[in-house]
Amino acid sequence: VKNIVNYFTDNKTIEKEHIIQILSLNKHDKDREDLFKVANLIRKEYTGDYINIKGVIEFSNYCKKNCYYCGLRAKNPFVQRYRMSPDEIIEVANQAAIFGLDTIILQSGEDDKYTDDDLVYIIREIRKNTSLPVSLSIGERSFLSYRKFRKAGAVRVLLKHETINKEIFKNIHPEKNYDNRIELLRFMNTLGYVTGSGNIIGLPGQTLEDIAEDILFMRNENIRMIGIGPFIPTENTPLKDHPRGSSELTLNAYCATRFCIPTAQMPTTTALGTISPDLQYQGFYAGCNVIMVNITPEVYRKNYNIYDNKIKVEFYETFEKIKQLGFSPSKITQKRMEEKKNASNIRL
Ligand code: 5AD
Ligand code: SF4
Repeated sequence: VKNIVNYFTDNKTIEKEHIIQILSLNKHDKDREDLFKVANLIRKEYTGDYINIKGVIEFSNYCKKNCYYCGLRAKNPFVQRYRMSPDEIIEVANQAAIFGLDTIILQSGEDDKYTDDDLVYIIREIRKNTSLPVSLSIGERSFLSYRKFRKAGAVRVLLKHETINKEIFKNIHPEKNYDNRIELLRFMNTLGYVTGSGNIIGLPGQTLEDIAEDILFMRNENIRMIGIGPFIPTENTPLKDHPRGSSELTLNAYCATRFCIPTAQMPTTTALGTISPDLQYQGFYAGCNVIMVNITPEVYRKNYNIYDNKIKVEFYETFEKIKQLGFSPSKITQKRMEEKKNASNIRL
């Protein structure tokens, strides 16, 4: 522990050997507890002592890709597909803004039915009505498209690299779009987006060293938002029989990432919460400072099953839980909730 903390104190980051040490920690190690505590301190010092609550609108579950792990893959015939209309999406964002969410994340499969103009319209309207930051999580689109979205007012993009190990990436992505994805990620920074990425824990053939490389890659590419989730086996996908990713290892990865990239915006992920909601809250003790709540209308949400049994993370419950655990939601969220305290019947 001393070794890692000393290195961090001197360098404001840690290196591969330290990351692997953190990833290797066992649940009952005293060292693990200690390092999580330090990660928590780093979070406070480098990101302000606030937990950001971001709202996700899953506006379409159509996808043209066939990632082997994902329930929404194009070739899965058992998905009841839906698309929300642009005005429906805008309306959900308007409603959600009342709660003082820190960001609206527009998420979907890779769905070309929405043209660039459609997305520009949606982004513009949400910006106009709510002035909330808009984040895009819509997969790969052309450089030109992403430039248009930036001009329309989107400021963040989430595009997970999933794994930086090329071999593993190719084994789980029939489209084999490794180079394009990395290039796109680089391009986002130059366009002026705050860029998010992330990886999956527990992929076939993955080692601790691979996960360390994922974290180092994100540091090197100046990735500012980092989503790391455990692999969840999912019916009707080629990886349905592959075992679930370890939740302990995922929490270790949060801790290591906080040491390696101290200013990261790092959600404790819904995938972890799907293993157990308590585990997701434990993420806050391992260095996470973001949680994403689901604001997709229920009729649609129930069909957005990227993986099996995906939980709904609710705004109210999450807001209360954060406070109960002794963490603070952002000032804007607290203010809005204060204003709404007596207004009943507002439930998402
Ligand atoms: N288990 C865990 N995470 C998954 N994702 C997709 N399928 C799974 C799964 N089975 C994650 C990927 C992807 C995002 C849409 O969800 O990281 O980027
Ligand atoms: Fe489509 Fe994303 Fe699922 Fe891949 S992970 S199949 S791109 S929704």
